[in-house]
Amino acid sequence: MTHRIAVIAGDGIGTEVMPEGIRALEAAAKQFNIALEFTTFEFGSCDYYLEHGSMLPEDWFEQLKGFDALFYGAVGWPDKVPDHISLWGSLLQFRRQFDQYINLRPCKLMPGIKSPLAGRQPGDIDFYVVRENTEGEYSSVGGKMFGGTDREVVIQDTVMTRTGVDRVLKYAFDLAQTRPRKKLTSATKSNGISITMPYWDERVVEMAKQYPDIAVDKFHIDILTANFVLHPDWFDVVVGSNLFGDILSDLGPACTGTIGIAPSANINPEGHFPSLFEPVHGSAPDIAGKGIANPIGQIWSGAMMLEHLGYKEAADAIVTAIEKVLSEGDSQVLTGDVGGQGTTASLGKAIADTISQ
Ligand code: NAD
Ligand code: IPM
Ligand code: MN
Repeated sequence: MTHRIAVIAGDGIGTEVMPEGIRALEAAAKQFNIALEFTTFEFGSCDYYLEHGSMLPEDWFEQLKGFDALFYGAVGWPDKVPDHISLWGSLLQFRRQFDQYINLRPCKLMPGIKSPLAGRQPGDIDFYVVRENTEGEYSSVGGKMFGGTDREVVIQDTVMTRTGVDRVLKYAFDLAQTRPRKKLTSATKSNGISITMPYWDERVVEMAKQYPDIAVDKFHIDILTANFVLHPDWFDVVVGSNLFGDILSDLGPACTGTIGIAPSANINPEGHFPSLFEPVHGSAPDIAGKGIANPIGQIWSGAMMLEHLGYKEAADAIVTAIEKVLSEGDSQVLTGDVGGQGTTASLGKAIADTISQ
């Protein structure tokens, strides 16, 4: 059976890390006898926008819906197109229209990488952020009134539906059940945000009744960010709303040394639509074009894609290869964010070669 993968590289370093993601996937596919067929799309980039006046063609949904998965780089180039236009016109449409309501973001201190948190070793930081991915603070409900006058008002509502909250909580509790520590932490802010966040807390309490074996705790988002830094070892599965999950999933990987290695899976668990796999990081205009971006976030996202497609062994082989290359610590191979002088290609090639061994 051939798995059809739609590839959208996007902007900036998205176009640089994508070839390394594909190189690793091809190595794993060969090793484990998996048939992958990649189809590249030019849309979903700021250059496409400048040419066509929109980020995506009108029939993007039809073009993409039949694929088994979407492999995605990073989008955004604020000097060319305002971020809210490029991102709302592409990535956020995929997440919403393909109902990818889970954003799963592992956060793990890898061997060979120095955490900026003093004394932390591999094993001390190993948790998942489960981010609600289709509603919450990222809503399109709101607007501007009295524009251009001194009475100007802008409103953007947070939307939480029972279905939306319960399904992400259920996913997170189910995930916690597969983990040895069986622990779930909920991110809240019910002391200040007095309607939606108490509702979130209420649904957590309700869902917890179905999982008596899971230890549940909650923190307000402000102290939770502090605890990510002070006590990252406390966490196992952390579930949060769209915005809180977004913030936690940059902070968590930063605690593991670099956001350049962090992967993510935007999942439609029912399989009604394709899921989307992408690094957590963005297009990094500050380093784009230099060939120095860390490709591990993209490569690890490819591993998550293989696991989603049913190839756990191949996915594990990619992660093991990443760990091996990082722990070898060859500064000619590793990129600058993890202490080396290598390039996107040198690190990507070393990982692909290790997969093939
Ligand atoms: P960013 O993640 O692009 O960069 C933040 C910092 O991390 C930069 O200093 C960058 O050089 C560094 N960095 C990121 N990825 C790296 C890698 N692989 N290797 C080494 N260093 C890396 O975040 P930003 O600067 O806030 O955003 C830049 C653009 O990307 C904006 O247009 C933003 O909207 C967009 N963005 C897109 C996505 C996405 O497509 N999923 C995610 C985040 C940001
Ligand atoms: C991410 C990004 C996106 C988000 C942006 C680019 C819209 O930060 O995937 O984490 O906020 O979800
Ligand atoms: Mn983010």
